[in-house]
Amino acid sequence: MTHIIEGDDRVSLVEMGPRDGLQNEAVRLTLPQKRELITRLAASGLQRIEVGAFVSPRRVPQMADSAELLAMLPRQGPVRYGALVPNLQGLQAAIQARVDEIGLFTACSDGFTRANIGIGVEESLVRFAPLVAEARRLGIKVRGYLSTVIACPFDGPTSPKRVAAVAERLLDLGCHEISLGDTTGVGTLGTVVPMLDAVLREIPAGRLAVHFHDTYGQALTNLIPALERGIRTIDSSVAGLGGCPYAPGASGNVASEEVVYLLQGLGMSTGVKLDALAATGQWVSEQLGRPNGSRVGRALSARRTGHTVDAQEGNCHAT
Ligand code: HMG
Ligand code: MG
Repeated sequence: MTHIIEGDDRVSLVEMGPRDGLQNEAVRLTLPQKRELITRLAASGLQRIEVGAFVSPRRVPQMADSAELLAMLPRQGPVRYGALVPNLQGLQAAIQARVDEIGLFTACSDGFTRANIGIGVEESLVRFAPLVAEARRLGIKVRGYLSTVIACPFDGPTSPKRVAAVAERLLDLGCHEISLGDTTGVGTLGTVVPMLDAVLREIPAGRLAVHFHDTYGQALTNLIPALERGIRTIDSSVAGLGGCPYAPGASGNVASEEVVYLLQGLGMSTGVKLDALAATGQWVSEQLGRPNGSRVGRALSARRTGHTVDAQEGNCHAT
């Protein structure tokens, strides 16, 4: 196969379904359902799975059982479980629950950061410094999420320079990786490319991940320049689940099935078995009583069952 994307062929997916996905679903899965989702995702070959968030249960009730969930998950094997942490209380709970990786989260814009965690960007960075130090002292990896890299639902467009500056601050605190979030999925190639170029002038591609929500159907397209520029870590969500409850209008992350299908087509490897992943996407959509948000998932599911796909609704009809 001709290699369209130069460089390393291996891409690592960070699965967001159980956290970014479920945090925004109206239907709450039970603990056994969540455990089954995560064990199925792991069995499909995903090795980094964000399973929960140690945030206020009043703000995000779907994540309130994160500690109990972590206690139920199998710990042997290569899978790393991550969880979001907004403050010291969250860090202490995450340590107690034996997470493998914590995700601290801030944004480029004060409007979103205030709506999300109640403080501005600068204050969040000050708050995070001792949290990173403590997590690292205990050997827990720290990922830094940077939201609103293209635009903020409250403050408007974000300048690429601003993204680079805050990303550098997160890296300097000791985060091993910065996940660049197009929180509301408004980016196009016209805005994503300048953003990536500005960040890559300051930070090597190996320390970056991209986290694109698919609200306007641009996420898969926007992954291409990231891959071309050497970024090899992609956040995605099985069945395209999710969104952020504090970003009005945002829909789910790019579907994991779409990303694996794209990468297979480019001759790149993820270690993920697409059929198993797609079956899990179909299964969790049924548990949630919602259409499967992955087109690849719907197509593979239709092929499995001999049905046709209704592309608008994601329903399968018998032929
Ligand atoms: P607050 O109300 O400003 O904080 O919340 P507070 O310190 O005044 O505490 C108020 C209450 O919350 C107290 O309880 C605390 O104990 C409790 P009370 O005494 O009233 O009963 N509390 C906590 N409970 C559990 N865990 C904690 C915790 N901290 C305080 N860690 C806080 C501040 C940050 C907690 C709140 O604003 C919050 O939980 N925000 C989380 C919002 C969230 O989870 N958003 C979604 C994830 S971010 C995202 O999706 C974007 C991302 O995907 C990237 C992208 O797409 O761009 C990552
Ligand atoms: Mg997100």
